[in-house]
Formats: sequence, structure tokens, C-alpha cells
Amino acid sequence: MSHQIIIQPSGHVFQVEPGETILEAALREGYSLPYGCRNGSCGICKGKIIQGTVDYGHYSEETLTEEEKQAGYALFCCASPLSDVVIECHEISATKDIEIKTLPCRVQKLELVAPDVMIVSLKLPTNQRLQFLAGQYIDILLKEGKRRSFSLANAPHDDEFLQLHVRNYPGGAFTEHVFTQMKVKDMLRFTGPLGSFFLREAPADDTAIIFLASGTGFAPIKSILEHIFYQENNRNEKRKITLYWGARTKADLYLIDLAQSWQQQHGNFTFIPVLSEPLPSDNWHGRTGLVHEAVMQDHQNLEKYQVYACGAPVMVKAAYHDFTGHRNLPKDAFFSDVFTPSAGNTQVNQKS
Ligand SMILES: Cc1cc2nc3c(=O)[nH]c(=O)nc-3n(C[C@H](O)[C@H](O)[C@H](O)COP(=O)(O)OP(=O)(O)OC[C@H]3O[C@@H](n4cnc5c(N)ncnc54)[C@H](O)[C@@H]3O)c2cc1C
Ligand code: FES
Repeated sequence: MSHQIIIQPSGHVFQVEPGETILEAALREGYSLPYGCRNGSCGICKGKIIQGTVDYGHYSEETLTEEEKQAGYALFCCASPLSDVVIECHEISATKDIEIKTLPCRVQKLELVAPDVMIVSLKLPTNQRLQFLAGQYIDILLKEGKRRSFSLANAPHDDEFLQLHVRNYPGGAFTEHVFTQMKVKDMLRFTGPLGSFFLREAPADDTAIIFLASGTGFAPIKSILEHIFYQENNRNEKRKITLYWGARTKADLYLIDLAQSWQQQHGNFTFIPVLSEPLPSDNWHGRTGLVHEAVMQDHQNLEKYQVYACGAPVMVKAAYHDFTGHRNLPKDAFFSDVFTPSAGNTQVNQKS
């Protein structure tokens, strides 16, 4: 039996069919609720149940704590309604009109840019272009219904090829294939664009931006930055932007020259690379330690900032906790994409 959902404060109404989650039904109806992993790991889709009851579905207990459940919160990517439900959630208008497509594509280029990072360029069929917002991702469709998410690293204006930055996970169903068997001209299928990690309006003219990347979390940030720099050519207003990019060794900062060239070309942009385990051969004189701690050292007050964090779950979680808890960053000024493993690999609980 289907159930009705009302979204507050917008008042939008939609039906959830049996077997659907609240998020699936909302996206099907064209309502853009915020989301990231869609498997109960990142917490981006968390919202309040104002009225009615839900089956909470499969989720990680770290992502939705018992206290949060008691306070009325649920993960909309996991929860299905058991009655008509009223939810509280801020919709994102920006993605509403972008069509999510499933398309074939061909591998155009494979570039090994670090021992465990491959840049994969994908070519769409002639006459096809993918409309997307800088920072969004696509799902590569594998056999047996499996999918793997990858952020688009090219900016929307530079869309002849789609660019993915793929880190190798030894034994990984998809990434091991990329590193050992994939060849130029191979065919793939994907669905996208997906996700809500994209640049938001500045609440005030003097709101500065911090981008925080770990490893291949650089990919969507590259897309957003190239989009900002492209638009700045047509605008006078330039927001102050700092990119902190964390990795273990220098080789893991696989596009460091590009980031350094942005700093030379754009007076409003600063690049701070941070290594956690530099090798003696790196001859590194730059910042060391954990990347989010470098931000903590440099900023005592993040009240007038927006932070965009992307990459390893542990880094994103620590950044959110420390910036909002100890540096006055408003909770609604933190945006993230978390590179969580796919559902089959995630530790999940079933609660209802
Ligand atoms: C929204 C989103 C965007 C993403 N964008 C990117 C991207 O731009 N670049 C990129 O390199 N990856 C990205 N990822 C991660 C990517 O989707 C896959 O999880 C990853 O490539 C591993 O897939 P696999 O099939 O090779 O490994 P699997 O077969 O899924 O797993 C193999 C082994 O690796 C471990 N593992 C898998 N993924 C991770 C992970 N993310 N962190 C730690 N351990 C893991 C598993 O636990 C398992 O032990 C993104 C994930 C999400 C949710
Ligand atoms: S989108 Fe629901 S927890 Fe990630």
C-alpha cells in the first residue's frame, strides 16, 4: 500500500510506493532532498519525522544514533513509511530540473597519475552531453546490479569527456578491474548526475570558502573550483577560497602542479597541501599531520565560512565535529561528499 509524504516547510506532497524509501520516491517525483551515499553511511539525508511512523531500514548506527532516533530523526535513503508521514527537510532547488540519465560511454583515456590513482576519461555517444552541477557524481553500473559511485572531476563547461579520479582498492570489484584490465575503447554504462555536493549561494558577501579534500576527494573539488574560476572571468565579485588537500605522501597529491598553478593565476585562491606520512625522498617542507587539523590550526573562528569537505569518511566526520563543535562553523555551512564503500561492504544494522 502506498503512503503519502508531506515535506515541511515547502508543503510538497508525494506518494511512496511499496518497497521504496522516502528518498527514492522523492527523487522519482522530482523533489531534491539532500543525499550522498544512499546506503545509510554518510548521514547527509538525515531529516526529521514530524508525524507518522517509518521502518528505519538498514543503516549504520554511527550515522544515526539511538539518541537521534529518539529525537525524531531518520535517514531518508533507508526509511520507508509505515503510515502517511510528515517530514522536515530543506529541499535543494538547484538539482530539481536536471534529468538523471542512464547512458553508455567509452573509455577515452587512462592515465596513471599516482601509484594507486587512475584518471579515467569517458566519452559519451555523439550528440549526447551530460548536464550536471560541478561537484556531482555518477554511478558506474556493473554486473549483477552492482554500482560504484565516482565524482565528476571535470567542470560542466568542459564536458567533451567526463573525468573520474579512481583510487585503487586492492580486491575491489570495480577498481581492481580499472587498474588491471580496463582498456581504451572499453564500454561502460552509468547513471547520473547524482548527489547534492555543489556550491551554494554565499549567505553574505564576505563569506569565505574552505575546500577540504583527502586523496581522490580532490575530484569533485577540482570540478567546483574550475567552475568558479571560469565564472569569475565574467564577474567582479571574488570570494576568498582556500583549498586544503591532504594525502599520505607527495605522490598521492596527484595533481599538485595544477593546484599550484591555480594559486599563481587567482589572487583570491590559496592552496595548502598537507601530508600525513611524507617519505624522506619527498623532501617535504610543507604542512604535515591530518588535513582537517591544519584548518583548525589556521582558523580560530569559522563563523563566516562555508566548508566543502570530500573524501574519506573519517576525515569528513572529524571535520564536521571539530569545526561545528570548536570553531563556530554554522552546521548548515558544512557540505560534504563521503566516499563510503558500496552497500555490500558497509557495516549495517536493521532497526525499525
Ligand atoms: C558519493 C560517492 C562518490 C565517490 N567518488 C569517488 C571518487 O571520485 N573516487 C574514488 O576513488 N572513489 C570514490 N568513491 C568510492 C567508490 O564508489 C568505491 O567505493 C570504491 O572505488 C571501491 O569500489 P570497488 O568496487 O573497487 O571496491 P569494493 O568491491 O566495493 O570493496 C573492496 C574492498 O575495499 C574496501 N573499500 C571499498 N570502498 C572503500 C572506501 N571508499 N573507503 C575505504 N575502503 C573501501 C571495502 O571495504 C572492501 O574491503 C565514491 C563513493 C561515494 C559514495
Ligand atoms: S544518503 Fe542517506 S546516509 Fe548517505
